[in-house]
Amino acid sequence: MAEADILKVSILGKESIHCGFHLVPYIAHTVIATLHASTYVLITDSNIAKIHLPAFEAEFQSALQVAQPNGIAPKSRFLSLVIPPGETSKSREGKAKIEDFLLLHRCTRDTVVLALGGGVIGDLVGFVAATFMRGVRFVQIPTTLLAMVDSSVGGKTAIDTPHGKNLIGAFWQPEYIFIDAALLETLPSREFSNGMAEVVKTAAIWDEEQFAALESRHTEIFAAIQSPSQNFSGRTKKTRSAAQELLLFVIVGSISVKAHIVTIDERETGLRNLVNFGHTIGHAIEAILTPTILHGECVSVGMILEGEISRQLGILSQVGVGRLTRCLKAYNLPVSLSDPRIANIPAAKWLTVNRLLDIMRVDKKNSGDEKKIVILSKIGATYEPKATIVRDVIIAKTLSEAAKVIPGVPTKNPVKMATPGSKSISNRALVLAALAQGTCRLKNLLHSDDTQVMMAALIELKGASFIWEDGGETLVVQGGGGSLSVPHKGKEIYLGNAGTAARFLTTVCTLVQGPGETTVITGNARMKQRPIGPLVDALRANGSTIDYLESAGCLPLSIAPQGLKGGTIQLAASVSSQYVSSVLLCAPYAAEPITLELTGGQVISQPYIDMTIAMMRTFGVVVSRRVDQATGKLLDIYDIPRGVYTNPADYNIESDASSATYPLAIAAITGTTCTIQNIGSSSLQGDARFAIEVLQGMGCTVVQTPTETTVTGPPVGQLKAIEEIDMEVMTDAFLTATVLAAVANGKTRIIGIANQRVKECNRIRAMIDELAKFGVDTNELEDGLEIIGKPIGELKKGVSVHCYDDHRVAMSFSVLSTVISDTVIEEKRCVEKTWPNWWDDLENKIGLKVQGIELDSPVAEASGTVNADADASIILIGMRGSGKTFTGHLAASRLSWTCLDADAIFEEKHQIGVRQFVHMHGWPAFRDAETVILRELLATKSKNHVISLGGGIVETAEARDLLKEYAHKGPVVLIMRPIDEIVAYLGVEAARPAYGEPIEAVFNRRAPWFKDCASHEFVNHVGVDTSIADKKGTRHEVIRFFKHITGQEPNLAPNLAPGKRSYFLSLTFPDVTPALHHIENLTQGVDAVELRVDLLSDSFGTSIPSVPYVKDQIAALRRSTSLPLIFTIRTVSQGGAFPDSAQEEAFELLKLALALGTEYLDVEISLPEPMIKELVRRKGHSKIIASWHDWSGEMKWDGPVVKEKYAVADRLGDIIKIVGKAESLRDNFTLYDFVSEANSKPNAKPIIAINMSGMGQMSRVLNETFTPVSHPLLPTKAAPGQLSFAEIQKALHLLGQLPPRRFALFGTPIAYSMSPTLHNTGFEILGLPHLYELHETAEVGESIKAVITAPDFGGASVTIPFKLDIIPLLDKLSPAAQAIGAVNTIVPLRTDGTNPILYGENTDWLGIRHCVHSRVHDGSLHAALVIGAGGTARAAIYALHSLKAQTIYIYNRTRSNAQALADEFSRANVQVLDTLDSWPSGIVPPNVIVSTVPSSATTTSSEPGSLHLSSNLFGYKDGPAVVIDMAYKPAETALLALAKGAGDNWESVRGLDVLLEQGYVQFELWTGRKCPRNVVAERVRAKYAETVV
Ligand SMILES: NC(=O)c1ccc[n+]([C@@H]2O[C@H](COP(=O)([O-])OP(=O)(O)OC[C@H]3O[C@@H](n4cnc5c(N)ncnc54)[C@H](O)[C@@H]3O)[C@@H](O)[C@H]2O)c1
Repeated sequence: MAEADILKVSILGKESIHCGFHLVPYIAHTVIATLHASTYVLITDSNIAKIHLPAFEAEFQSALQVAQPNGIAPKSRFLSLVIPPGETSKSREGKAKIEDFLLLHRCTRDTVVLALGGGVIGDLVGFVAATFMRGVRFVQIPTTLLAMVDSSVGGKTAIDTPHGKNLIGAFWQPEYIFIDAALLETLPSREFSNGMAEVVKTAAIWDEEQFAALESRHTEIFAAIQSPSQNFSGRTKKTRSAAQELLLFVIVGSISVKAHIVTIDERETGLRNLVNFGHTIGHAIEAILTPTILHGECVSVGMILEGEISRQLGILSQVGVGRLTRCLKAYNLPVSLSDPRIANIPAAKWLTVNRLLDIMRVDKKNSGDEKKIVILSKIGATYEPKATIVRDVIIAKTLSEAAKVIPGVPTKNPVKMATPGSKSISNRALVLAALAQGTCRLKNLLHSDDTQVMMAALIELKGASFIWEDGGETLVVQGGGGSLSVPHKGKEIYLGNAGTAARFLTTVCTLVQGPGETTVITGNARMKQRPIGPLVDALRANGSTIDYLESAGCLPLSIAPQGLKGGTIQLAASVSSQYVSSVLLCAPYAAEPITLELTGGQVISQPYIDMTIAMMRTFGVVVSRRVDQATGKLLDIYDIPRGVYTNPADYNIESDASSATYPLAIAAITGTTCTIQNIGSSSLQGDARFAIEVLQGMGCTVVQTPTETTVTGPPVGQLKAIEEIDMEVMTDAFLTATVLAAVANGKTRIIGIANQRVKECNRIRAMIDELAKFGVDTNELEDGLEIIGKPIGELKKGVSVHCYDDHRVAMSFSVLSTVISDTVIEEKRCVEKTWPNWWDDLENKIGLKVQGIELDSPVAEASGTVNADADASIILIGMRGSGKTFTGHLAASRLSWTCLDADAIFEEKHQIGVRQFVHMHGWPAFRDAETVILRELLATKSKNHVISLGGGIVETAEARDLLKEYAHKGPVVLIMRPIDEIVAYLGVEAARPAYGEPIEAVFNRRAPWFKDCASHEFVNHVGVDTSIADKKGTRHEVIRFFKHITGQEPNLAPNLAPGKRSYFLSLTFPDVTPALHHIENLTQGVDAVELRVDLLSDSFGTSIPSVPYVKDQIAALRRSTSLPLIFTIRTVSQGGAFPDSAQEEAFELLKLALALGTEYLDVEISLPEPMIKELVRRKGHSKIIASWHDWSGEMKWDGPVVKEKYAVADRLGDIIKIVGKAESLRDNFTLYDFVSEANSKPNAKPIIAINMSGMGQMSRVLNETFTPVSHPLLPTKAAPGQLSFAEIQKALHLLGQLPPRRFALFGTPIAYSMSPTLHNTGFEILGLPHLYELHETAEVGESIKAVITAPDFGGASVTIPFKLDIIPLLDKLSPAAQAIGAVNTIVPLRTDGTNPILYGENTDWLGIRHCVHSRVHDGSLHAALVIGAGGTARAAIYALHSLKAQTIYIYNRTRSNAQALADEFSRANVQVLDTLDSWPSGIVPPNVIVSTVPSSATTTSSEPGSLHLSSNLFGYKDGPAVVIDMAYKPAETALLALAKGAGDNWESVRGLDVLLEQGYVQFELWTGRKCPRNVVAERVRAKYAETVV
């Protein structure tokens, strides 16, 4: 066996934890040698098996061989079992699976089970071991960091149930825990961070030294797992790298603490509670955010919140909270609920205070109702040796987002306190103390990112060492006297986004002396954009070698270790005074004394330069500033002598003077006394003058010593206004002065603060707006503001102050709230920037009560903003030649609105053509005139108009603004047409002025403007050479689009209603166009078509389809089908192809879909909430399917996750979609129960609930709303387990969910009827179990009654001679059937499932209407002729009237019958003809003819007794015309034969065509499904050809 160096840790009295690297051989040998067994079973998950199982197998097999030499088969067996990864395996079923495996393989009690994996495997396998054969031995081989440091240690084993995690389990100690840290090299980095949360936690409660290592060495720790070790390096100490040593140190350190605690308190009765630090709140967060956010990530936030509770209780200092925060951040862990990784997921909305408290109520640590939290007293120690009881109000205060200060007198009066250290002074002090000789104790250092990275860098440069004392209150700096070294080879100094540190350290690095190559300093992405150029230029000019490694002028920098030369340095100081301070601080260590000359005119922030010089003096170096001898004026030239700083024993960092203004102001406003230590008359900061210059002026008593300031306020209500005060030297303090002025007697003018308009927010505006809420008047001045003070009693109470995320706004209004009751300070956390524990200090150090307040947050709702005004006119924009006129006219006619063309209005108004106008007055004048017209139109024609604008309207900003504004009220539709089609079209058009430049150039210029102005987009393909079918499709699409976006007739699926079933077809093509020929067949039975946008691909190898491609695909689909579209983008982790990281791209495509009038938008609820809200806002009449896909298989239908997801989807969507995964049939039943319960709630939204995988097929059968279906013609299924529509119908039938029905045709003679073929084909294609039969009787009598009352009656067709006689048997007639007075269709309406209502309908008229309308369009039917006066003639008149025929002529052999009909349809202008041989004089012959008489009754010769037909009938020659013969025998009737010679404008329609059309309608009425027309028509025609000759 290969040698391995092992570090052993003892637990429960046994050295059973063995740690090292590359331990597989060691593990195999140790286990076999010390744990004798007949069988060794290794259990792991499939992720780990792929990478690590072969090595274990090989090693165990060979070790077993060795144990049994001489070729004899080993006595013991080695078996392995691989199970699916993820939390779902940690279940009863998962446990049973393993037990069955063990039983099947006849494992006995001497078996040793090895758990190779993360916490899931460890917990599950451990629990199996605990109960199998009443307990077998087991070994933990953890593979995740979390499992190494936490779950594998301590013997807790468990499984989850739907009621919660880890609820069933046992304590069962493993024989060994082998920690092979090399296994971490394959662990994803997010999982590593997840484990680091536990590592940080353990150090935080127990071991400060370990914590300090974690704090300062995070980059090395990450590096240790990121660079794979070669040739098993690390297995022995000799081959172990420094990074590996560090990693092992960290892991072993953490395990040792846990092992120690477990040894003392194995069964968690007290001490072991401590490892739950961060978990009380962390678990509650996890319950809401799982599985999106990992356990360690939730615990990380939990630790900070619990740390803040300790701080609130006055137990933990802000130093502790700050260190914890920065340490967790360094491992990429979230530290607050507002971290975008958390805040952006929709479930985050449920993180309310009440909800979190509610979840905490069931924590296992609780005793009864009281909650227990582990309270830190400092880093490395807890308040009690167990969790501490904490009241709900305290937890709620920390968790809530807003704060309320209870007015009153500070109970700590007279207050004496220090405010947090000044940031500028902290940074300077750190550099000075590090460069100096000797030891310095820095007190009151600010804990910020800047100081943190500064210290880490100085350690890296071996320039100094740091030790914390007093629990982090004092930093002991052992200065290096200016000696600095190049960091380890390849080691970069990482500064994050700490600007001050970057600037100071750049010069510090030039002081470094060799050996070593260069020092590299770098930062995060933002840092790499911040300027450093002027400083680098100056240093380079002085001889330093500094290279930019990426962009010139920015970090990262590579600095050669050659020391700083010195002499004269010129530096441009107009950008930042920090460059100056950087050179000044390092200057004494140059080879020659430095003369620093500042160039570039205006020197910025002189007070900070003075601050640096003053501090250098304290550390022993005196800088002199030159003076112009002649004028006595100070020059910007400084002389710095050579020398070494000397550390003062103690250095008290001055408190931040701006922060000090708040407690002082509280003393002023409450009439009490406050002393601020650390700030006095000798202060380096300008804001230190606030007390004397402002508060004293307002009537306070101020006593200032060089190092302290004490303020005593006048009695409450007696502050005086200051007439005018210039606050230029203390601008940050103006907000504090403003709130005091609000309650002072008189007007206060504050000036010199113009720069405050560009701080965190426009602070002057913010103060004006927020004070107005209290009823305080103010006047804004050019460089300040005037406040008109009011007595306290007159200010409004209960105001909620918005803080603009600005710490100073929050703190200054909290001063005001000490005297005005019920003031709520929203966003209380914004104080974190400079005074994170402000609210706690207010309570603990000043003595004012603070409450936590939860604000009602406005939540997005599914309702969105449908254009309030459905009548709002539609504006069309787009290039000339894009089809605005065609589209506009068609849209207007179908909406029954008026169409206007702005160009025509222009010509009418100016009495001149556009072309000529431009010629005479030029383009600018035309654009102006055009904009005037636009303005007029928007004002006067704002309702019920479709207004088409000139193509160039978007050229002027004014017109664009008008359009953008209008788009909030009504649709602005951009008509898009491919540019080549436009070019071809314009080639033949000359009415408007020529562009004078290439059309493509004009288009490219306008395209962004068009996009900017339009709310919708319509893709118009009316190419010169498009086919008739395409043109027809385009007309349909125009109508669909405009009816949908106006809401006149949204194109939604009717079957989405409760009690009905609906389906959609998933189109899985990379390009849908080749499939469009089959679209009729593909969409058989379905209600909508889903376009899987993620599967579209316009060029090979790209995963995101381009916007133009998606548009084209949709346009092509639209021309082929009028079914609603579902627009879906599935990402990789949801089982699709769209990159998970491309959320912006997905968002753009989703917005495009809405602009194109897509009816349904599938939106994953994992998309950031602001994006979803925006889509909801834009959706108009379209619907949002809010969906959640659990591809991992971890979601259980009876677990908590699905409920959360449902609630989120319910809030955001109109339709809810949840997709899980079935592992057993049972998972479909739990799904069904979930859906039934959800649907039982009043107003439940439609839900799509499906289980993926073959096991889940049953859920697809049972799902009612929008079941995704496949079709045999599709290349691939969109998801595993998908079924076709017909398959689902068959399954429903077999499950008793779709009872077979009988249909009949009543009439005589009917033997040759095509109806059975028509309907039975439809049933067959759609998989419906119904049957249609002939029922020929002589009369409407008992036999018909028996059929229509039978329980399985599905419907009937009625034909001659019973269309009228049937009526008395029916319960209700449709309006059409009533008007026509004839019924051809009976529909049994089953509302309550028992007694159907027999409903009479007439579909003949619909068949006739369809056949006319598809050939003679709206508005062009001037006159029609109906031949015959029977039931069918009535249907024809009704149809023609509905098509707005101006005159309907009727001819019948028995005139009186015709007259009776004309009288009955009096509103339809029916005129009776006496003959068909000639038309009455002066009329235009009709363009529609419908014959309803049997063909046998007509003749084209002059047979007596027959109706004579002559070619006169077809006298109309001027446009589209159609003749329909309702007789369907023979195939070519006399009338149609005659029509052949009538001219090209006449189209003929056979009786069979009408029969088909009316049959399709019947089919849909009976089944609720569209009839599969293509196949049905084909079969009927074939049958017809057989029977009718
Ligand atoms: N028993 C305890 O005291 C205790 C303590 C804490 C957590 N837990 C439990 O631990 C579980 C979480 O454990 P986890 O975070 O280890 O999750 P996990 O076991 O699910 O592992 C995380 C993921 O990483 C993969 N993986 C593991 N090791 C890998 C490696 N070396 N290389 C590549 N991929 C690897 C896994 O396949 C899995 O997909 C939870 O069920 C939790 O309840 C138990």
